[in-house]
Amino acid sequence: MGSIKSIAILCSGGDSPGMNCAIRAIVRTAIHENLEVYGIQKGYQGLLEGNIKPLSVSSVGNIIQHGGTILQTSRCLEFHEPETRKEAAHILKRKKIDALIVIGGDGSFNGANLLHKEHGIPVVGIPGTIDNDITGTDYTIGFDTAVKNAVDAVDKIRDTANSHARTFIVEVMGKRSPAIALSVGICTGAENVVLPAKEIDYKKIAADIERGIKRGKTSSIIIAAEGEKEGVAHVIQKELKDKFKISAHVCILGHIQRGGNPNPMDRLMASHMGHHAVIALVKGEKAKATVYRQGKVTLAELSECLAKKMTFDTEEIDLVSTLSI
Ligand code: F6P
Repeated sequence: MGSIKSIAILCSGGDSPGMNCAIRAIVRTAIHENLEVYGIQKGYQGLLEGNIKPLSVSSVGNIIQHGGTILQTSRCLEFHEPETRKEAAHILKRKKIDALIVIGGDGSFNGANLLHKEHGIPVVGIPGTIDNDITGTDYTIGFDTAVKNAVDAVDKIRDTANSHARTFIVEVMGKRSPAIALSVGICTGAENVVLPAKEIDYKKIAADIERGIKRGKTSSIIIAAEGEKEGVAHVIQKELKDKFKISAHVCILGHIQRGGNPNPMDRLMASHMGHHAVIALVKGEKAKATVYRQGKVTLAELSECLAKKMTFDTEEIDLVSTLSI
């Protein structure tokens, strides 16, 4: 068994629905294990500013159903600097915080990993990002809710698209990650899915739209992952118009995908992962991540979970095509 007496939690990077459930699970498990538990506001930035407050059993009451994060979050570029991490480690030691739990994506995990390697602080990463793009885990908290948000929106777009016999290009989130676009494409019966870092096959898109019209389809939907920059949907729109005389409407779903009540899948994952994270620290683990593998929440080396997962199952692309003939 380890000998930690206090832990702190922070959220980092883009928020994701279910982060609050994870915070609640961490706080309640920590108190159950007789640990003191602190919340760091606004991610690594808040840590550097010493924005740290004790959390009690009741401070996490009534948050399980809410999206966002009560601890707020930030993208802290300064944390890439070794001097900044040294300062962060000093602050944790001065506040007598023995270990840190970081809820976020691969960038946030890299910060935690370096804090451990350079300053010996025990850390656990909990994967929290709508993008589902961290290596080493099959699931990241927030993905299912984000997909549901996008699917709901596309279903509504389909109603109006059918009524007017229109083509829509719907841009979804997932910078460098194909996960949201693929799932949304399958779940909405999209005619095409455009993924980041994959050349856009305009000829196929145009041919699919025209074939659909011939066989009596009353609408076409193309789901486009945003890629490096927002606005790829407009690029596709222009190309279809200029080269194929096909007019299409654009809808960029944006941050609406990241908000709202976490669905049961995200609440379950977050509750299990939050609990596992605290127990790992109590048992003396030093640099772990909670992961979902083979249908179970378990622990992995943090070092296995530092990269961005950009691969996808080509069968999923084929499925979109096959099912939308
Ligand atoms: O959290 C991941 C993510 O939602 C990506 O899908 C998206 O590209 C990015 O964050 C947007 O970040 P921000 O909210 O900082 O603009």
